[in-house]
Amino acid sequence: MNDRLTLFLPCASGVQEFLADEVHGLTGLTGQDLLTLRGGVRVHAGWRELMLLNLHSRLAQRVLIELAHGPCASEDDLYRLAHTVPWENWFAARQTFKVDLTAQRSPLKSLNFATLRVKDAVADAFRTRAGGARPSVDTHEPDVRVQAHLTQAEATLYIDSSGASLFKRGWRQQQGDAPLKETLAAAMLAASGWWLPAERRVQGVPLYDPCCGSGTIVIEAAQLLLGLPAGGLRSFAFQHLKPFDPALWNAIKREATHPAIGKDAKNQPPRIFGSDVAHRMVDFAQRNAERAGVAHAVQLRGGDALQRLPPTDTPGMLLLNPPYGERIDVAGSVRQSRERFVSESSSADERAGDLFFERLAAHWKQHFAGWTAWLLTPDLKLPARLRLKESRRVPMWNGPIECRLFRFDLTARGTAASPTSAT
Ligand SMILES: C[S@@+](CC[C@H](N)C(=O)[O-])C[C@H]1O[C@@H](n2cnc3c(N)ncnc32)[C@H](O)[C@@H]1O
Repeated sequence: MNDRLTLFLPCASGVQEFLADEVHGLTGLTGQDLLTLRGGVRVHAGWRELMLLNLHSRLAQRVLIELAHGPCASEDDLYRLAHTVPWENWFAARQTFKVDLTAQRSPLKSLNFATLRVKDAVADAFRTRAGGARPSVDTHEPDVRVQAHLTQAEATLYIDSSGASLFKRGWRQQQGDAPLKETLAAAMLAASGWWLPAERRVQGVPLYDPCCGSGTIVIEAAQLLLGLPAGGLRSFAFQHLKPFDPALWNAIKREATHPAIGKDAKNQPPRIFGSDVAHRMVDFAQRNAERAGVAHAVQLRGGDALQRLPPTDTPGMLLLNPPYGERIDVAGSVRQSRERFVSESSSADERAGDLFFERLAAHWKQHFAGWTAWLLTPDLKLPARLRLKESRRVPMWNGPIECRLFRFDLTARGTAASPTSAT
C-alpha cells in the first residue's frame, strides 16, 4: 500500500503548467517526483496521493498508474511487455476489463490488432499465473480500464485509477447545448489568476459570468471558494482495484470535508455571480449549483449581458465563454438555433455577432470601468469585434478546437481601452 507508484495525469494541451502547480499544492511534491510533460504531469507518489489527486484535481483528465514501459517495435514486443505485468495483483479474474490504445508515430500497422494483443496478454497472464481463471472483456462498462500508449519505439502500459473522466464531477444533470468542460473552466480560473492552484487558494475579487449557461464557471469557482473537493460527488475506478484501502480513503474524504481553505467563505454574501439571457439556462445553472453544494455562495439571474449592471460596487473579474455557435440577435437575445454563425453562417449572422460584441464592449466601458474581462473563444478576431486591444492572450484547447483566453482591462468610455485593428 505504501509502494511508490508512477502516475501520469493527462490534461488539455497547454494546461500542464497549471496542473503541475495544482499537484504541488495538493501533495507538496516537487523536483523529480513532479515532472511537467507535454499534455500532462508525471508524478512519483503513493496511494495516498493517487486518491487525493483523483478527489481534488480540477485540471487532470484522469490519473493513470504506469505499470510497464519498454521498447516496442512489433505486436509481439507489446504482448511480451503486457505479459510481464502482474495484473492479478491489481484486479480479480471475476472483474471485467477493456483495453484502450493510443499511438503517436507508432510503426505498428494495425492498432486494432495491437489492442487485441494487449488484451490477450492480460488474459494469458491471469491464466498462467493466477490459477486458470481469466477475466472477460466488457467494452461498454468495464470494471477496469487498461491503457496502452505507443510511440515510435516504445510502449507504456497503464491501469486507469479514475474511471469516468475527471471532468465529470457528479453534479451535472442539466446542461445547455454547449456546456464548457469543467476541466476547461478550471483552467480558465487558473490562467486568469483568480485561482492560485499552487497555493490552494483563490483571489478575493468578485467573479461574474454574464453568459453563464449551465453555470460551469461559477460552480467551479464557488467550489474552490468553499474548499469543496472536485470529485466529492462521484466514485472512482481505484475503489475496485485490489490494493485499495477503504480506511485510508475514508480518512482522505473526511479531511476533504474539513478543508483548510474556504472556511471564511461560508457565511459571506455571494462574491460569485452568473447571468444568462435564456431563463431556461439560469434554471439549469441554479439546479446544478444546488447539486454541487454551492447554491448559497452564488447569485444567478436572468438578463441580457448588454444590459446587466455590475453585481457589486467593487470592481472584479468578468470570466466567460461568450456565445459563438449560436445566432445572436442584436437586441442581445439568442435565437435558439443550431446554426453556427461563424462556420455555417450567412454574413448577416456575422454582422449580428459583430454588433453584439461592439455593444458589449460599449456597455462594459460605460458600466464596468476598473473590471478585468477574460473571454475564451475560438474566434481569433474577437478583439477586433469588440474593438478592444487585449492585454493578454493565452492559448487553450477546447477538445480539438484551438481557442484563446483573451484579457481586456476595462477602462471608462473615451479613456485608455484602446481600439484595435483586426488581428
Ligand atoms: C457558449 S455558452 C456558455 C456556456 C457556459 N459556460 C456553460 O458552461 O454552460 C453562451 C451562453 O451565452 C448566452 N447568451 C447569448 N447571448 C446572450 C446575451 N445577450 N446575454 C446573456 N447571455 C447570452 C447563451 O444563452 C449561452 O448560454
